[in-house]
Amino acid sequence: MPEPLHTITAMPTARRPGCPFDPPEELIEARARSPISRFPFPDGHQGWLVTGYDLTRAILADPRFSSRKELMKHHPTVDYGDIEVPPAPPGEFLLMDEPRHSRYRKPLVGKFTVRRMRLLTERVEQITAEHLDAMEQAGPAADLVTAFAKPIPAVVICELLGVPYEDRDRFQDNIDTFLAGEAGDEELIAAYLATQRYLAELVAAKRANPTDDVLSDLLDSDLTDEELQGMALILLSAGFDTTANMLALGTFALLRNPEQLAALRADPGLVDQAVEELLRYLSVAKQFHRVALEDVELAGHTIEAGATVILSLSTANRDPERFPDPHTLDLRRQDGAHLAFSHGIHQCLGQQLARVELRVALPALLDRFPTLRLAVPAEEVALRPESADIYGVKSLPVTWDATRVP
Ligand code: HEM
Repeated sequence: MPEPLHTITAMPTARRPGCPFDPPEELIEARARSPISRFPFPDGHQGWLVTGYDLTRAILADPRFSSRKELMKHHPTVDYGDIEVPPAPPGEFLLMDEPRHSRYRKPLVGKFTVRRMRLLTERVEQITAEHLDAMEQAGPAADLVTAFAKPIPAVVICELLGVPYEDRDRFQDNIDTFLAGEAGDEELIAAYLATQRYLAELVAAKRANPTDDVLSDLLDSDLTDEELQGMALILLSAGFDTTANMLALGTFALLRNPEQLAALRADPGLVDQAVEELLRYLSVAKQFHRVALEDVELAGHTIEAGATVILSLSTANRDPERFPDPHTLDLRRQDGAHLAFSHGIHQCLGQQLARVELRVALPALLDRFPTLRLAVPAEEVALRPESADIYGVKSLPVTWDATRVP
């Protein structure tokens, strides 16, 4: 028997007050009715919204669903009318299908393996310690976002790619502008163009003077400068904002769940599991789109060729059929296999790097500041809007008891 067809009439624009870690109530309710709902986009396109875990995973693994940018014409909250969307520029492989996608992903895979990333652990520890030293010296009291969550992944990805961290003023704010979900179209275009200019100069500088890093390694391939720029953009934009938001929102979630925080402090061996649970629970990369390339039968429904499907990773990661008691943060959970890094050919290339960063930085923070706490009431913590591609806190005021002699 096919599931009855439900319609969700508009994408929710906010989370339930007091529940900053849960997906919007409307999405949780939609999943409770059915893992798939009809979703009429504001421009009139009849699309779909998928909120169930099994169905989301199946679509992510199915080559009949495309990630091609030129097919992504419909926006879930804005009516752009009948616009032409150009294909993804060379190198920007997140929004490509095979075989174009593999041309860029393949040369990178070996540079982001578990082994390679483990070798980086010591450097991540040093970078983390330096930032904790600076935070401690300047405190007590800090904005955890600017003192800790943002700079640590930014330094790491810059070093790995060979992007001078001193140049961050030329790309970091611009990339934040793409991802924070609050900029107008003109501001977005200006930020994109400025980042492109910076990356063009960077690739030219590497050609002239290669160094020991991922970008320089790629110079030996047949990739053009334009392609390298596109790849650098994807790696930079995917590489720091996601992990930064996991660090800050993850700390906020732990501070709001003191018994879980105490369990992690008491048993440092819990950290790998704890990081997986925080990834599932927070799902900062909330949702992605796919477009059906042909008619596809799923859960008793026909997804029509050309239909845009919104995959709500955050709601799929709260599916009670996959994760018992899904809205509880349980660091000892052993269910595994969350979709926070997606699945299929676009599954996060940097997931091992993100894991190393989270497994190092979160325990180091808790260890350095045993009395870490919010410096403002939890309701006053400023959150990113639902329109942001990547969810998180804008700032996280924290404080602690100064115990060390300066
Ligand atoms: C792709 C999440 C950190 C690089 C993705 C996707 C997700 C994701 C959900 C797949 C999108 C889709 O299916 O369309 C995250 C989260 C992170 C994180 C939650 C942190 C906790 C990183 C880091 C890097 C990175 C540190 C650094 C290199 C990439 C790249 C892709 C990607 C290059 C595109 C892969 C492809 O299209 O083949 N990420 N990511 N990510 N991520 Fe991450």
